[in-house]
Amino acid sequence: MKRVLSGITPSGDFTLGNYLGALRHWVSFQEDHDAFYCVVDLHALTTDIDPVVLRRNSLDAALNLLAVGLDPRRCTIFVQSHVPEHTRLTWLLECTATMGELRRMTQFKEKSHGQETVRAGLFTYPVLMAADILLYRADAVPVGEDQRQHLELARELALRFNNRYGETFTVPEAAVPGAAARVMDLQHPERKMSKSVESPLGTIGLLDPAEAITRKVRKAVTDTDGEVRYDRAAKPGLANLLDLLAGATDRTPQEVAKGYTRYGDLKHDVAEALSELLRPVRERRMALEDDLPYVDTVLAEGAAAAHEVAAPTYAKAADALGLLPLPSLARDED
Ligand code: AMP
Ligand code: TRP
Repeated sequence: MKRVLSGITPSGDFTLGNYLGALRHWVSFQEDHDAFYCVVDLHALTTDIDPVVLRRNSLDAALNLLAVGLDPRRCTIFVQSHVPEHTRLTWLLECTATMGELRRMTQFKEKSHGQETVRAGLFTYPVLMAADILLYRADAVPVGEDQRQHLELARELALRFNNRYGETFTVPEAAVPGAAARVMDLQHPERKMSKSVESPLGTIGLLDPAEAITRKVRKAVTDTDGEVRYDRAAKPGLANLLDLLAGATDRTPQEVAKGYTRYGDLKHDVAEALSELLRPVRERRMALEDDLPYVDTVLAEGAAAAHEVAAPTYAKAADALGLLPLPSLARDED
């Protein structure tokens, strides 16, 4: 069975963008792949976090992964910091990556732009992400469009390491969805909908009730020419709505556009489709609220299962580089 791995940062409330761009596909992959999904709490440390909030967000993220329909009997759900090989492999890969290639990362440029001080962790963030992926020898990585460049780096590091030190890592492919791979903010359609950017009207939360979804979609920014057609450059707000309906109904945005002449009708159907899509998620989430011990069990079992895969990959990479094996392990082999 092919393996997939993906991760999500516990940096705030999950959005519709997370769902359409990634989580929904994670759920499909668990059916016919050996799937690993992780709450990447170490990645959250690259910004100024409040420890109390981070703790809450990490648990919340795990609850959301269950609420979207991930089933711990079909996939492995775990927290990144529970598997120490993630940080250990990161160092080995940091010594494989170059400053130049990390400097070219668009997300780094955006996040560091205008900052007086920039954390070293923000710079090396994509190397930690590469370690997440390579540790599990993942064949595919389901992510939204914004992560494509990071994935390209993970591939490059795997290839470079394999060429220099011998076949160690699987070179992963990006699995980016065809529709809604980049959901835009409803109020600022030129920027990505994001859980870390405050935009109450522009962001649809994974757990928003139908009334909130309807209100936000109704107020979504469009344009004044009144024509329904898919044109991302000239009509970004409308194109985003068409993308959303396409994503929610498994069609192309061009196909969706053909069915409408009025913005109001389109908005009505977008709101309805999104409410229906997210309703079961909200219901499952409410049912889970009372069962935190269950979540703890899922994460404990997930960490153990993840470790089983990650530890041998790390050991292989360390050995390939010439690091001495742990003396106790060496004795065991005698
Ligand atoms: P993050 O919230 O940055 O940890 O992202 C988790 C996953 O959701 C990644 O696979 C992202 O590519 C995806 N994602 C985040 N925001 C969006 C968006 N606005 N549109 C599509 N996918 C997204
Ligand atoms: N960097 C990713 C994001 O911001 C999250 C992430 C961390 C990830 N590790 C990963 C995604 C490994 C896929 C695979 O969305």
